[in-house]
Amino acid sequence: MDFNNSSYKECSSKNLDDDVKLPSCTVRTMASKAITIDNINPNILKLEYAVRGPLVIRAAEIEKELEKGAQKPFKRVIKANIGDAHAMGQTPITFIRQVISCVTSPELIEKGDYPEDVKQRAREILGACGGNSVGSYTSSHGIEYIRRHVAEYIERRDGYPANWEDICLSSGASTAIKNCLQLLCNNIGGKPSGVMIPIPQYPLYSASLAEYGLEQVGYYLDEDHQWGLDIEELERALADASKNCNVRALVVINPGNPTGQVLTRDNIESIIKFAHKHKLFLFADEVYQDNVYAEGSKFFSFKKVLREIGSPFDDIELASFMTVSKGYMGECGLRGGWMELVNLDPHVQAHLYKCISAMLCPSTLGQTAVDCVARPPLPGEPSYELWIREKTAVLDSLNKRAKMIVDTFNQMEGFKCNIVQGAMYAFPRFELPPKAIKAAAAEGKTPDTFYAFRLLEETGICVVPGSGFGQRPGTYHFRTTILPQPELLKEMLDIFQAFHKKFTAEFSN
Ligand SMILES: Cc1ncc(COP(=O)(O)O)c(C=O)c1O
Repeated sequence: MDFNNSSYKECSSKNLDDDVKLPSCTVRTMASKAITIDNINPNILKLEYAVRGPLVIRAAEIEKELEKGAQKPFKRVIKANIGDAHAMGQTPITFIRQVISCVTSPELIEKGDYPEDVKQRAREILGACGGNSVGSYTSSHGIEYIRRHVAEYIERRDGYPANWEDICLSSGASTAIKNCLQLLCNNIGGKPSGVMIPIPQYPLYSASLAEYGLEQVGYYLDEDHQWGLDIEELERALADASKNCNVRALVVINPGNPTGQVLTRDNIESIIKFAHKHKLFLFADEVYQDNVYAEGSKFFSFKKVLREIGSPFDDIELASFMTVSKGYMGECGLRGGWMELVNLDPHVQAHLYKCISAMLCPSTLGQTAVDCVARPPLPGEPSYELWIREKTAVLDSLNKRAKMIVDTFNQMEGFKCNIVQGAMYAFPRFELPPKAIKAAAAEGKTPDTFYAFRLLEETGICVVPGSGFGQRPGTYHFRTTILPQPELLKEMLDIFQAFHKKFTAEFSN
């Protein structure tokens, strides 16, 4: 499209999320618009979000084509691109949904056929809401009653005190992460602030850094050592970046997205010492803390390790993030999450809360789900048996699916896939024949994007190319979720194997 042509007829976007994709629209003249591609915030133009990028847009188009009866070599699109468990058939946890039903329709508390602990919980939550209704705004950092339960959850998890006033509820972890990143938007001594993020990374980080004009300082995870985090690599990345920016923060995702590793306690300890040495604000993205599968792997929160190692390292500033979108809950659409703030300058924390208050409050239904996660039914309570059965079934099934995916990929020619120790994704590395790399270049695509597009067009399987997360130059990966239900996953992996054989044969001679 020629944006300089003042009478262009069409506007559309190929890089936007499918949910926000602009419809093709008729535009009279560029001059009639206050905001144009020439004067829009340039940071927004730079922003990319691969998890919902061009491949996903194409997948949505294919779905529409199938609905209209188009003949394709497959009958449905399998969306293995996004960590949205319910969209892939996971059923909700009954306790969470029952409490939500009761708080939204309070007459059910008296008339409904719900367990007594559900009713009691709903009464308590409503009692903490203005006018006894989830339709009212809450305080901007969330309902105090629920913040207290989150603090208790953290104390149980870590064995160390947590202060409820340092807990801030949010509409999913994403908003909390973005709120904290905003604190760093400041040029000091003529240099922008830099934030260290893992490569590969979850693209919320690269997208938000681009949006806020913060410098992305990538450090590579060590694929040959189970995507571990090597302190020498952190030192290298920091030293390189320090020429161009003031490196002020470090992001760690544990368990990892897209890489599926669970950091060892020793590794976490060294990261804390590194952050302390360089006076970095630490973002601990711990949204997958319930998703740990591999034998010998265990989740350790940064807060717990910080407290264990003690002085002088325990004064680093830490924000840790949690959500109801992941774990065994998978309640992505309810938009509930929290952050715990540790060791922040009280003035800074007050300004952060002020900034959050401009957004009024997180969704009350998201907060209700947070309460159910932070304070699940206890043994002996009426909802306990069902809750533990459902939770265990989800996590056991994810565990099996994680193994099934890794085993299959590792049997495929040219594939190498690390164990999925945790989270919800596999990120295999694969070789591509030189002819395929050439064909990709001829189409102006990165080789992994070329492969993923061919996979989508020929099989209906939608994955995200590794370039959307970052990878070492010359290596190719993609991310698939482990979320398709077992039967569909088996079907997907069979189709995948056949596709890969055909693709390799096509480009090998
Ligand atoms: C590592 C990581 N952090 C944060 C989020 C954001 O989750 P939400 O905003 O749904 O809570 C996700 C979602 O996939 C994620 O994978």
